[in-house]
Amino acid sequence: MNWENLDWAILDRLREGFLSGSAANGPYWKSLDDLAHYDFTYAERIGWKWDHVLRELSRRGWTPTDGPLLDWGCGSGVAHRRVIDTWPNCTKSVRVFDHSTLAEVYATQRLQESLPDLEIRSWDRSESIATLTISHVLNELDKDSAENLMNTIQSASTVIWIEPGTSDVAGKLVQWREKLRDSFRVVFPCPHQGACGLQTPDNAHNWCHHFASPPAGVFAESNWVKFGQRAGIDLRSLPYSALVLVKLDRSTDSALTSDSELSGRIIGRPKVSKPYTRFLGCDATQVQRLEMPKKIDARLAKKLDRPTSPRLFHWQHAEGKVTRIKPILDNDE
Ligand SMILES: C[S@@+](CC[C@H](N)C(=O)[O-])C[C@H]1O[C@@H](n2cnc3c(N)ncnc32)[C@H](O)[C@@H]1O
Repeated sequence: MNWENLDWAILDRLREGFLSGSAANGPYWKSLDDLAHYDFTYAERIGWKWDHVLRELSRRGWTPTDGPLLDWGCGSGVAHRRVIDTWPNCTKSVRVFDHSTLAEVYATQRLQESLPDLEIRSWDRSESIATLTISHVLNELDKDSAENLMNTIQSASTVIWIEPGTSDVAGKLVQWREKLRDSFRVVFPCPHQGACGLQTPDNAHNWCHHFASPPAGVFAESNWVKFGQRAGIDLRSLPYSALVLVKLDRSTDSALTSDSELSGRIIGRPKVSKPYTRFLGCDATQVQRLEMPKKIDARLAKKLDRPTSPRLFHWQHAEGKVTRIKPILDNDE
C-alpha cells in the first residue's frame, strides 16, 4: 500500500459502516485489499492510541504475561503488532480470531512477513491464552459474541483493551470493568481497584476517556494531512478509552498508592487558565472536578493540557482544591 494507490471507494465504504453502525451486522471485509487499506490508514491511527497506552505501561515497568497472545476481533492486526513492537520477547506464538476469515488471513500474513520467527495462526478455541488484545470491537458485538468475549477474557492472564473515546463506548467499557474487577487487577487507567467513581449520578455527564497524540511529524506529512481532510477526521484529536487487566492471582503490579497521598488520574482534557488548571480527577475517593492553583507547580500547570503531559499522580486535595501534586511518570524527566 502507498498513498498514491489509495482507493477512496473502499475507505469511504468502511468508514460509513463504522459510523452508521452497520458494521455490527456481520463480517464486512470484502477483500484483502480492504484490510490493506484499513491497515494503512484507520488502523494506523488506532495504533497511535495503542502506542499511548503501551508507552505508559512500559514506563511503569509493566510487561504482559509471557506466553501465547490472542488478538480477538483482530481486523488487520494492529493491536498485537503494537504489543509485540513494545515487548518483542513477550510471546513466540500469536493467535488471531475474527469472524471474518479474510481478517485472520490478512493479519497472519502481515505478521509473518515482518516477523517470520513467530508462530502465528487462527485461534483454536481450546488453546490457552496468556495475553489477550482487544481493539475497537465493542460497537460491533451482539449478545452472544459479548458472552464469548467475556468467557475468553476470563480465561486470559492479561488483557489489553482499547476502544474509541466516545461516551457511549467508554461507558460500556466501565460496565465490563465492573464485571471483571473481582477476578482481575485493573492496571490501566484506574488508579484504584474500587467501584468506578463515574457511576454516581453526579458524574452522569462524564466518561472515562483519554487523549493520545499522533507521532511527531504527522502534521508535516502532506499525505496524512490530505487523508484527514478527505476522510473528515481531525488527526489532532485521538480520544480513546481503555482497560488493562491482570488476573488477580498473577498480579505483581506494585500498588500506586503511598501512605499519605492518593494516586489519581486526570480524565479527559484539563482546562489550563492563568490562575488555575481545572480537571476531572479520579482517585479512590471519587471522580470529581478538581482545581489546581498554578502556584502549586507552575511548570506542571503550564503543560497539563498537552497530550504528552503526565496523567497519573500522587496528589492530595481538600474541598475540590489540589493541595499537593506530583507526577508518577513525568515525560520530561
Ligand atoms: C473496527 S474493526 C477493529 C479491528 C482491529 N481490532 C483494530 O483495532 O484495528 C472490528 C473487528 O472486529 C471483528 N468482529 C466484529 N464482531 C466480531 C465477532 N462477533 N467475533 C469476532 N470478530 C468480530 C470485525 O470483523 C473487525 O475485524
